[in-house]
Amino acid sequence: MFVLALGLAGCGGQKPAEPAKQTVLKVGSDTAYAPFEFQDEKSKEYVGFDMELIQAIGKQIGAKVEVQSMNFDGLIPALEAGNIDAAISAMTITEERAQKVNFSKPYYKSGLTIVVKSDNSAIKGFKDLEGKKIAVQIGTTGADEAKKVKDAQIREFNTAPEAFMELKAGGVDAVINDRPVNDYYIKEAGGKDAKQVGDPLTSEDYGIAVAKKNTELAEKINKAIDELKKNGEFDKIYQKWFGT
Ligand code: ARG
Repeated sequence: MFVLALGLAGCGGQKPAEPAKQTVLKVGSDTAYAPFEFQDEKSKEYVGFDMELIQAIGKQIGAKVEVQSMNFDGLIPALEAGNIDAAISAMTITEERAQKVNFSKPYYKSGLTIVVKSDNSAIKGFKDLEGKKIAVQIGTTGADEAKKVKDAQIREFNTAPEAFMELKAGGVDAVINDRPVNDYYIKEAGGKDAKQVGDPLTSEDYGIAVAKKNTELAEKINKAIDELKKNGEFDKIYQKWFGT
């Protein structure tokens, strides 16, 4: 819960005020989505662009960030149930989601691409996916996009790495997923035998989601993003994860 737990001053003014407890910001994320959110193998800490951004936002608003890892399709229900205060998870701002939650201002421009095995010369773009087997992560815009493909057999996985594994194992012909995550997979995370094909299928903006009624927190997050952009910290984090 996002509560300001301030130490109450003693009624009679005799007792010294208790030290103010720090506000906690409970943040949900599907932490298997490098380079946005993933677990560092050594430290076991959650790292990535989103993770550093939310820590910086926490500092701005004076809250201690506690990240809870959960399935991507559980994030909006968790916000609605009040189990978390915010979700940062490379989550695309969509009209459908915006009916259920409040999004911050956009903080990252993304889009979907198709990933196939390097030796696949049959799939060069969206049209070629017709009748093919496609792996996606459940509840994502990639899953929505795959459903538009004629006669495709769609295999839905809880996490993006599982979808990539299925491609590697030859169980599917393609994966539809967010471009920066596909880039990272191919360059850094074991996808040497895979490639991206065609133009990006969509243009999408990521936002941080909070509960529908929590406009106050959404505003604080927006102000924090503005401040981090002004003071150069946003750029620093961006350069660290996406700079060349
Ligand atoms: N941007 C896509 C969406 O909003 C995929 C996000 C998946 N995020 C994750 N952490 N697995 O649907």
